[in-house]
Amino acid sequence: MSEPIVLGIESTCDETAAAIVRGRELLSNVVASSMEEHARYGGVIPEIASRAHAEAFVPCVSKALADADMTLADVDAIAVSAGPGLAGCLAVGVSGAKALAWAANKPIYGINHVIGHIAVTQLQFGAFPPDTLALIVSGGHTSLLHVEDMPRKIDVVGTTLDDAAGECFDKVARLLGFPYPGGPHIDRHAQHGDPHAIRVPQGLTQGKAGAAHPYDFSFSGVKTAVARWVEGEQAAGREIPVDDVCASLADSVATRAGRKAMRGCEQYGSDTLIVGGGFSANSQLRAKLLEFGERHGVDVRIPQIKLCTDNGAMVAMLGVNLVEAGVAPSAPDFPIDSAMPLTQVSM
Ligand code: KG4
Ligand code: ZN
Repeated sequence: MSEPIVLGIESTCDETAAAIVRGRELLSNVVASSMEEHARYGGVIPEIASRAHAEAFVPCVSKALADADMTLADVDAIAVSAGPGLAGCLAVGVSGAKALAWAANKPIYGINHVIGHIAVTQLQFGAFPPDTLALIVSGGHTSLLHVEDMPRKIDVVGTTLDDAAGECFDKVARLLGFPYPGGPHIDRHAQHGDPHAIRVPQGLTQGKAGAAHPYDFSFSGVKTAVARWVEGEQAAGREIPVDDVCASLADSVATRAGRKAMRGCEQYGSDTLIVGGGFSANSQLRAKLLEFGERHGVDVRIPQIKLCTDNGAMVAMLGVNLVEAGVAPSAPDFPIDSAMPLTQVSM
């Protein structure tokens, strides 16, 4: 089928979203967020998020269809995030999507949300070249993937051994007193700070550990180092140079992610690096990846900010890939998988 039309539905965490993609063209994109309802708890409360999904599901899907000037009858397939994510949240989106598929007699694909984060780059940059490398940086994942054949064959080249980049930012942000989610606050402050003000460890880049884990990441060391430094300064009664702390943390994370990604590209002979995940909205990471890409002759494809954070377009785009590749739809009773592995693209 050429230029399939897919309705994508997302409900893994605190965004309820629906979008319609035709081929590589985004026809509508609706996102409702319950983020503000969680801010005062310092993190996403699954029960609150699930209820918000139940309320926003029908309005989001209706608006996505209306904005694209379509009805359900016009779509060729429905795609929905089946994992990884919060079980209660996934259940709302998947149940809703199954009901729509059954009512309109459409094929349904339960897709991997994280793979959606890299799939979405196709809306801006076109199809993946074969045998390409991808860097996933989200709240829960920091991984390098070898995408041999999208969406049929994806392997994990490296992954974080402890915290994900977004998690590390969120934890330091809490220490600095920023509200949840802290990542964007660190980003903002880092823009005014000195990235070399504080010495932070470059986990898994040097020595034996670096050689043993050329493509793996570790961010808990930098988190601890920054935390100790801040506590030391506080104990000594000195004022914390927040901008410098943020800039040093951001530079360390971005540099490490960039170096490992470039080394991976070289190893796998890829002159393209696909980037995706909520953390790819980070300006220090974006700048560093583009700079490294230019230096190494690698075409770095980072989604526009709006498509970095969770959305339905990423789900619909991956759905289009599955339809185009002739992959069989998911069984009508497919389950959710809150720990869906990165090598599994659909249920
Ligand atoms: O992909 P995502 O929306 O959720 C998951 O699927 O995990 O990623 C959310 C993560 C959070 O840790 C958030 O703090 C981080 O992305 N984030 C940022 C920025 N925007 C979002 N981190 C740093 N700088 C940003 N501008
Ligand atoms: Zn996400």
